[in-house]
Amino acid sequence: MYTEAVLDHFNNPRNVGIIDDPTVLVQVGDPGCGDSLLLTLKIEDDRLVDIRYKIYGCGAAIATSSMGSELVKGKTLSEALAVGDADVIAALGGLPEEKEHCSNLIASALQAGIRQYLDSLRQEEAK
Ligand code: FES
Repeated sequence: MYTEAVLDHFNNPRNVGIIDDPTVLVQVGDPGCGDSLLLTLKIEDDRLVDIRYKIYGCGAAIATSSMGSELVKGKTLSEALAVGDADVIAALGGLPEEKEHCSNLIASALQAGIRQYLDSLRQEEAK
């Protein structure tokens, strides 16, 4: 049912935790199944220098969060914004169809977090 990559990231999730003094903190969830993701980002010079998260959810939600964090860590903000749900699923070698939408919280959390950061920069510049 699950690929080896999914099982690996489920059993050994990468980048778990909360960054002290994060640049961005964002929480997203899937109301249908109750899974939720708290994401913290450290951004320096337009680059994601660190990413940590706490995930409350099923094995697929843990695996997508872990793989997604690996895909974007160290990337520029525009590179990270280009990573979507399909990239996370492809990097995991696929997910069971019923898990594809509900478990994949990391890309939308990341996009919300980066947009929040860019908006706050624009507001600072407008002052
Ligand atoms: Fe895990 Fe929906 S059951 S994300």
